[in-house]
Amino acid sequence: MFSRTLFALTLVGIPLAAAAGPDGHALFDEHCAACHGDNHAGGIGLPLTPQMLDGVDDRYLRVTIRKGRPGRVMPSFESLSDAQVEALVVYLRKNSEGRRPRWTAVRAPGDPGRGHRLFVQHCVQCHGADGSGADGTGVTLSRERAFAIMPPALNNPGFLAAASDQMIGYTIRNGRPETPMEPFSQQVLSDSDINDIVAHVRTFQEQPRPALEERVDGDEGPVLVFDSPYDFDTTVGNLVNAIKGNNFRSFPPRTLDQGLTDEFDMNRRQVTLRFCNFRRLYDLMNVDPRLGIVLPCRVTVVERDDGQVQVLAMNMAVIARIFNNDGLTKAFVTMQEVQASIIEEATF
Ligand code: HEC
Ligand code: HEC
Repeated sequence: MFSRTLFALTLVGIPLAAAAGPDGHALFDEHCAACHGDNHAGGIGLPLTPQMLDGVDDRYLRVTIRKGRPGRVMPSFESLSDAQVEALVVYLRKNSEGRRPRWTAVRAPGDPGRGHRLFVQHCVQCHGADGSGADGTGVTLSRERAFAIMPPALNNPGFLAAASDQMIGYTIRNGRPETPMEPFSQQVLSDSDINDIVAHVRTFQEQPRPALEERVDGDEGPVLVFDSPYDFDTTVGNLVNAIKGNNFRSFPPRTLDQGLTDEFDMNRRQVTLRFCNFRRLYDLMNVDPRLGIVLPCRVTVVERDDGQVQVLAMNMAVIARIFNNDGLTKAFVTMQEVQASIIEEATF
């Protein structure tokens, strides 16, 4: 299931040929389903269920899609047109039970100091003391880890821009059904308590972001192709040596005879080498243990009909762009550099 998710993830970054008109369902499958699930039940992303949709306005959806959640894994979809974003909202709304709040930007009149104390009492164990607790996707915060649904970051500039005070208040009062976010009844938090908490949430500072973008920019596609000056068997042998020389553990080569062969010419010879390095694995898993799915690394050697041998590798930097997370980007870029040096060594 995880490897299928990864495969879908690698596809998120590939721009498809221009579609006739914005089809919300198709856009969702292309850009969102890998994380939020084909059935909207959630996964790496939060559930986008009817109950969730009942508690947010269209503006929240629009701004969330546009800005994403910088520093988390929810991407910002800046390249979608307004019509495409609107088609996504309409598509998501089709699943909702029809409640469609219309909230304004009116600020709740709360006391942030009091709100801070209430937040510590009722919210920190899940949302972290500063609304996020740490970098990353939230999995490695020093708090309960058993959540099937990760508590989102409330100090996130994307969230703070998208959410109205009424939406935050509504979420506290009603919770999110079938998630760990329980409703807080009048007995536990009065209306004025909730206003105070909302005022406190509004004080969360925006997290400054180091500029990593240049390092992962480029026109490269999701697959890197290297020409090898050697024949097929020599190239495979060189790669195995280079992998070992770089302190990676390699796994037995696997000939692609099923599944992927449709995409390639059946006459070609090809083999996939899998390898991993446990320190790099640890770096990635430290950001989010679920990322074990991206490892071990794979490199495929292919012999074309004209005899040219090529080495194909997943472009980690492109995959990293899918995530809106600097920690992950760094780990992926490092993986990418090591992988490229292994392939260059083997094909030099
Ligand atoms: C037991 C853990 C837990 C506690 C306690 C908790 N939350 Fe949550 N909260 C969550 C989870 C999980 C979600 C995501 C729910 C979903 O998938 O819709 C969430 C969602 C939210 C959201 C919606 C944000 C978004 O991006 O979807 C807000 C706002 C929120 N919580 C505020 C609070 C506040 C304020 C408190 C304290 C009064 C609080 N929560 C207490 C776990 C918790
Ligand atoms: C790479 C994974 C990923 C992709 C792709 C993705 N999301 Fe998300 N999304 C997330 C995560 C993770 C969160 C929770 C943010 C957090 O952890 O703070 C989220 C949050 C959201 C929220 C807020 C949910 C709430 O409970 O308030 C909405 C709405 C949303 N995403 C819609 C979309 C849409 C629409 C798309 C496609 C255009 C999309 N997402 C693509 C991972 C993803």
